[in-house]
Amino acid sequence: MANKKIKIGLVGFGTVGVGVCKILQNQADLIAKRSGVEFEVVKVAMRDTAKERDITLPAGAATTDWQDVVNHPEVEFVVELMGGTDTAYEVVASALKLGKPVITGNKALLAERGEEIFALSEQHQAPVYFEASVAGGIPIIKSLREAFVSNSVVNLAGIINGTCNYILERMTDAGLSYQDALKEAMELGYAEADPTLDINGWDAGHKAILLGAISYGFLPDPEKTYVSGIEQVQLSDIELANKLGYAIKLISVVKPASDKTIEIRTQASFVPQTHLLAKVDGVFNAVAMQGDEVGDSFIYGRGAGAGPTATAVIADLVDAAGSAAGFLPYNAGSYTVADIDETETAYFVSLAVKDEPGVMAQITSHFSEQGISFSGTFSNVDPSSPDAAMNSVSFITHKAKLGTLKRTIKGLESLDCVTSTPTFYRVESFDS
Ligand SMILES: NC(=O)c1ccc[n+]([C@@H]2O[C@H](COP(=O)([O-])OP(=O)(O)OC[C@H]3O[C@@H](n4cnc5c(N)ncnc54)[C@H](OP(=O)(O)O)[C@@H]3O)[C@@H](O)[C@H]2O)c1
Repeated sequence: MANKKIKIGLVGFGTVGVGVCKILQNQADLIAKRSGVEFEVVKVAMRDTAKERDITLPAGAATTDWQDVVNHPEVEFVVELMGGTDTAYEVVASALKLGKPVITGNKALLAERGEEIFALSEQHQAPVYFEASVAGGIPIIKSLREAFVSNSVVNLAGIINGTCNYILERMTDAGLSYQDALKEAMELGYAEADPTLDINGWDAGHKAILLGAISYGFLPDPEKTYVSGIEQVQLSDIELANKLGYAIKLISVVKPASDKTIEIRTQASFVPQTHLLAKVDGVFNAVAMQGDEVGDSFIYGRGAGAGPTATAVIADLVDAAGSAAGFLPYNAGSYTVADIDETETAYFVSLAVKDEPGVMAQITSHFSEQGISFSGTFSNVDPSSPDAAMNSVSFITHKAKLGTLKRTIKGLESLDCVTSTPTFYRVESFDS
């Protein structure tokens, strides 16, 4: 049977866009043999057509006007790889209105404006594919949509921002300060020139929203999800975590909180060193998924870069060519995002204290008044210097609601014997 021929247009010809064109050129025979489809790139938009890009496009394909791509009569699929949420929205919306399937790697666009985009997708019966938008080369969306189609997700936790994972690893292994580790990540090209969205947690936060959408068929409201980053992580936190058998990782958690709510949160957490996620180092990403039938599953790989991300884009192109249904919210209205204060984990809490009699009793009775009990208590006692001052104490609590912990911490701050704002981390147990 003759191969299907599909003409595509790209908006964005940077790291990922060039990667897609290179793979389509280099692996054309393999792709055609496996999928029965030959893709031809007919139009590509970029800001500067004179820029050197280490690849040659067909004559007349390059343009600076995205409308030349979207409105080109021969372009059947539009691949949006420019990033951002304004012009990129126009690109995607215009393509969908013309009934053209869209393939994108733009997590920020889908997380922030998914409602409008998926409404247009449904209205114009033009699917949207976005495998590349979450964890680059890890086929997590395909896994959730296809391989795990028969399972409910009872717990999903992932390391889905390589920049933060690299910084935390360098702080852990080389003892670098947060600032030095960030500087190194930028010098090595692992962090963007403006790394704000990585380190404040929102890059992972956007991806967690998409994982929630795929897993539970609703579009989570970004403002109701919880996101914090790694800027506040101190070297001393990491050292103490390691001593206690934990690693500190930026973890995104997506799981049911009740029959009607889904917990969606991203933050630096304590992860038991025995858990596979604690062993994910460098710029790698990984997702641990627990399905009600399949049990535990773990997917690991490169979350960014031209090759991995372009691989995901091309998998979507092949799906689109086979008319597989893109994502449409199939359960709209059935879930909302869980109130973060109602979500429960154990916590590691650390506070600076005065060295005077009765300090521990005051602090522990304050916790117990709030109904929080401990599984461990630690102080900086050095057995070889029993007379040294005790100036900080740390606790690992049993599970409690975040709202209760926050109230407890507020109360601790007002105790005379407490000399710093207590810091806390969630201790992840990865259960359902
Ligand atoms: N890089 C990764 O590893 C990775 C991984 C997963 C997802 N993604 C996502 O993939 C998308 C692309 O990322 P990237 O790293 O490839 O970005 P990039 O290297 O910055 O490339 C962006 C491209 O868009 C073009 N562009 C920007 N504004 C434009 C406009 N108004 N009209 C036409 N072209 C315009 C730029 O043109 P010029 O080249 O002329 O400046 C450039 O070619 C983003 O949504 C990103 O979040 C990237």
